[in-house]
Amino acid sequence: MDNESGLDLQAICEYMVGVARNAGEILSASMSSPQAFTVKKNTADIVTETDKRVEDFIHDQLVARYASFHFLGEETHKTGSAITDHPTFIVDPIDGTSNFVHGIPDVCVSIGLAVGREPMVGVVYNPIHEELWWASKGQGAFCRRSNGPTRKLPFSSPPLEGLGPACIGIEWGSDREGPNFELNAKVFMTLARTTATGGKFTNSLRCTGSAAITICRVAAGQQDAFWECGCWAWDVTAAWCILAEAGGIMVDGHPGNWSPPIDNRRYLAVRPAENGHAPFIEEFWSIIGDKRSTYGP
Ligand code: IPD
Ligand code: CA
Repeated sequence: MDNESGLDLQAICEYMVGVARNAGEILSASMSSPQAFTVKKNTADIVTETDKRVEDFIHDQLVARYASFHFLGEETHKTGSAITDHPTFIVDPIDGTSNFVHGIPDVCVSIGLAVGREPMVGVVYNPIHEELWWASKGQGAFCRRSNGPTRKLPFSSPPLEGLGPACIGIEWGSDREGPNFELNAKVFMTLARTTATGGKFTNSLRCTGSAAITICRVAAGQQDAFWECGCWAWDVTAAWCILAEAGGIMVDGHPGNWSPPIDNRRYLAVRPAENGHAPFIEEFWSIIGDKRSTYGP
């Protein structure tokens, strides 16, 4: 056991991979027919019966083997329930529910394990593309598509050259008014605008519709960064472990905190890079200025 948790993280990871693959079969079978959904907070925040069914399945499989661990799932969590130091599975049964109801194949099952509130194991599985990403602390991060070879992450880690040439993942989230919307609008406009008009002229801004998949792409080095204020621990914990094991970094989505907690709700993920992360992160934080979202602990 090569980690301070005293747990066999690799064995747990292998079990989580099996659970994610089986849960993915439920997800992909449901995707072949039109999906009814229920609105939660607003039209941008929805849930389907499949989300609940997949979460119940994952819960039952995880507690059958690791009954003493805590479980936090998107569809069953109680408002205000805190993540403790105790080993805790943090699960999104479908990350990318909006893609799911539209038949867009960027969907995944996301299963993380946090110990001491730190992401220790992460498994993200897209059952439509049969694409699996996984990592456990100290053992590196990997991905495998269908029956293809297992590949170590990152695929590449060239120097970060700043926001101009970057491919950055962003999301509008579900709050479309007030300070959260204002901050998104400011950041997205500044990234998109030409330098002559005061912007960064960023090469590309991508809304994948799944924070977990996007962070895995950042871990692979396919995208340079992902920024979102408003998503939740279940959207990021699994992919965060994969990112960190690949050599990337997760910092606060607001300026200043280089080591945010898993339930920070404001995240900036940056890919592995030979020349380090600090100048890129400082440049990103500088466009936020004194604007603030209302999210956070
Ligand atoms: C959402 C996705 C989306 C992000 C939202 C999440 P869901 O998760 O990750 O990309 O912008 O903040 O809530 O609702 O599909 O599980
Ligand atoms: Ca979800």
